[in-house]
Amino acid sequence: MEKAAKILGTMAIREVLKMGDPRLLAVAQPVLNFATPELESLLADMRDTMRDLNGAGLAAPQIGVSLRVVIFGFELNPRYPEEDPVPFTVLINPILTPLGEQQEEGWEGCLSVPGMRGLVPRYRDLRYIGFDAAGRPIDRTVKDFHARVVQHEVDHLDGILYPRRIRDLTQFGFNDALFPGENLIDE
Ligand code: NI
Repeated sequence: MEKAAKILGTMAIREVLKMGDPRLLAVAQPVLNFATPELESLLADMRDTMRDLNGAGLAAPQIGVSLRVVIFGFELNPRYPEEDPVPFTVLINPILTPLGEQQEEGWEGCLSVPGMRGLVPRYRDLRYIGFDAAGRPIDRTVKDFHARVVQHEVDHLDGILYPRRIRDLTQFGFNDALFPGENLIDE
């Protein structure tokens, strides 16, 4: 098996960079050309990687590609059994607009910070716009966990990992110590 990519047919599971890698701190560049083979290939790798790791979301910089591309979505999240599933979404060149001032604290994890959780404040209500892979516009108003996931992923495009958002560092730790016996999904 190669170190950087496990190739199985057309699948390409890429290595996810971990916190400490300076590439995770860069501000990513906008996508200029849509519906290209390069973009489709990037998105296929991101989907394969996210699903292989059972993630709820992934940003291109996490696999070392400094472009403003995120994917997210899941059917069921055991940490938020009361939350509606978030539809699988490709979001390119996103712009976020918080709706109102209200923030809520919630536990987050990240594939780039494996095995850990932190309590992070996020805007509860959010409008996001951007584009899909074909360049079609996306415009959604969301709340709660959907809004949290989008804010987490888009932070990656600006070089921000969730530990920088934690207000109280006593609320940051290892999954098996914080939530013994729970099987948690990373974002
Ligand atoms: Ni993350």
